[in-house]
Amino acid sequence: MKDIIVLGIESSCDETSVAVVKNGREVLSNVIDTQIKIHEQFGGVVPEIASRNHIEAISRVAKKALEDANLTFKDLDVIAPAYGPGLVGALLVGVSYGRGLAYALNKPLVGVNHLEGHIAANYITHKDLEPPFICMLTSGGNTQIVHIKDYCNLEVLGKTRDDAIGEAFDKVARVIGLTYPGGPKVDKLAQQGQPTIDFPKTHFENLDFSFSGIKTAVINLHHKNPEINKADLCMSFEKAVTDVLIENIEKAIEMTNVRKVVLAGGVSANTHIRSEFLKLENKDIKIYMPDLKLCTDNAAMIGAAGYYRYLNGNISENTLNAVPNLKL
Ligand code: KG4
Repeated sequence: MKDIIVLGIESSCDETSVAVVKNGREVLSNVIDTQIKIHEQFGGVVPEIASRNHIEAISRVAKKALEDANLTFKDLDVIAPAYGPGLVGALLVGVSYGRGLAYALNKPLVGVNHLEGHIAANYITHKDLEPPFICMLTSGGNTQIVHIKDYCNLEVLGKTRDDAIGEAFDKVARVIGLTYPGGPKVDKLAQQGQPTIDFPKTHFENLDFSFSGIKTAVINLHHKNPEINKADLCMSFEKAVTDVLIENIEKAIEMTNVRKVVLAGGVSANTHIRSEFLKLENKDIKIYMPDLKLCTDNAAMIGAAGYYRYLNGNISENTLNAVPNLKL
């Protein structure tokens, strides 16, 4: 079969990224231009500023991606921008750039769901990974358990009813004085702490999650007792949220009888979460997780997902629009 070269484009939040991906699995280039330094001073992403910076960066990042892959625009077979979920103005930059490129090159445009991209990051890291599997998707804006029955046949089994797990990490971090994005800093601090505090967890009959109770308990305890060791606080918070993730993934395995579990999304970079999920391998469950550099937003994962959408015949109209609350 002829090789399919996909140009993945990602601009849903504060990373402008363009990647060249061959046959959905091989990354020829993956350029990521992050705006973290710009948003750090505001304690979070400012949407208007994010859009303006995407505009400034996108052409330069795309050119660099082609240069790194040693290819030209003419070598591309498919143009695949992420079109949601995310910040509407930010998404529009990648979508418009992709539309323009697809039109000028007369190549198919394939809009990609950013969340499907996070899942597809695993196809790059694990060349042997094929559906069916269950995915624990944990990112800044989403927490879901997804049953991937086939490459383009996904069913959401459970989701958060309030905060996304990454949001809870970032809020806890901010309150204890760590800068944005707080997740990696909580991770680092927790490694020096012990899970000395037992935070209350919410359980549901189904596979839904709630993190706002745990987050509020952590914040209230810190406000009442500012002298409590921050490393222990972070470790106890991580233990509480990880226990909830593991409990639900075990329920999902029982429900589906699928014993292949994949982690995805920015929070899947977390050291404690990764090590606790790996322990499930003792229960005859196979665990897959993306390389650390593919956990957070990047265009290689969008290119990988775009490849399978293209094979599935999901070609977008050139009127493709950004969908900020796009669901799986
Ligand atoms: O997947 P992502 O890059 O963006 C979304 O699509 O939402 O996830 C970003 C989130 C942020 O909340 C960030 O704090 C969190 O992932 N994160 C982490 C770690 N690395 C990134 N949270 C916990 N531990 C980490 N090591």
